[in-house]
Amino acid sequence: MSIHDFERYPLTFGPSPVHHLDRLTAHLGGAQVWAKREDVSSGLAYGGNKTRKLEYIVPDVLASGADTLVSIGGYQSNHTRQVAAVGAKLGLKVKLVQERWVDWDDPVNDKVGNILLSRIMGADTRLDPSGFDIGIRRSWQEAIDEVEAGGGTPYPIPAGASEHRLGGLGFANWAYEVAEQEQQLGVFFDTIVVCTVTGSTHAGMIAGFAALEDAGGRPRRVLGIDASATIEKTRDQVARIARNTAELIGLGRELRDDEITVLEGWAGDLYGIPVESTIEAIKLSGRLEGMIIDPVYEGKSMAGLVDLVTSGEISKDSTVLYAHLGGQPALNAYSGIFDS
Ligand SMILES: Cc1ncc(COP(=O)(O)O)c(C=O)c1O
Repeated sequence: MSIHDFERYPLTFGPSPVHHLDRLTAHLGGAQVWAKREDVSSGLAYGGNKTRKLEYIVPDVLASGADTLVSIGGYQSNHTRQVAAVGAKLGLKVKLVQERWVDWDDPVNDKVGNILLSRIMGADTRLDPSGFDIGIRRSWQEAIDEVEAGGGTPYPIPAGASEHRLGGLGFANWAYEVAEQEQQLGVFFDTIVVCTVTGSTHAGMIAGFAALEDAGGRPRRVLGIDASATIEKTRDQVARIARNTAELIGLGRELRDDEITVLEGWAGDLYGIPVESTIEAIKLSGRLEGMIIDPVYEGKSMAGLVDLVTSGEISKDSTVLYAHLGGQPALNAYSGIFDS
């Protein structure tokens, strides 16, 4: 079994674009920095990393005969917005549990950005006061039960589509896509930097790049930057999903611990709350590259990249690929941090 044996339902325009970040590279004065853009690779409600994961889950949804997708996330979840878009595209109903994952005191936090888009696309959004947790939640189970009680057939998609058997495949395939783009561009990305929270994005990449390396590819580092601020849970989840995905795609060996790297230091104390380095990173990528990143995820991984490059931990002769996983709609709930 390999990644190519799994059915993929197209929800993206094709390979996500890869480009060099010239001005950011010059500013940091170290490694060459490139970006691969999940935020501009789908026509479905601004896309993002979940769209790519869902490409491998949709065939299972269709085979199941379900009529309602049931998922969960925070008020400003990018994941639930992408589930809403996929539901609309497939003509399925969508029920979303939106928990108060972030104690962010913005009066429109539960009205604008992602949740607004989900509502426009016809999803049934239910607000729940529970706080942040990447694990399986009772409220989600209740929503599933409700669909059944109403005579519907639910298809459950866990937070971030991570704790799903097929959740790691989208980004295992991303690794193969990178390898092809490297051939076309004549570059080699020795270091990948990716934001990690519910884990299957980073985990899928680890499995995919391990398979490529075992097939004779050059070794590289895949650095996950934690944005959950619950580092142990995220580390465990990344490791577990990476191992499951590796088995699914036929790696044929156990992943080593040194292939699974989740770095802490840029999440701040709480998921969803930007810290100074997050805000600096958002301004830097906006002002130098016109590349917009968000305060919950990508601002934190970019802050990590900036520090790792400027400290020389990622060396000057490295070529780094920053995985831009989307997430900009949440910015609308964070206007207060940019109002001066
Ligand atoms: C924009 C963005 N970046 C990064 C992540 C982290 O991805 P994962 O949950 O697969 O670790 C998410 C979702 O959680 C996201 O929406």
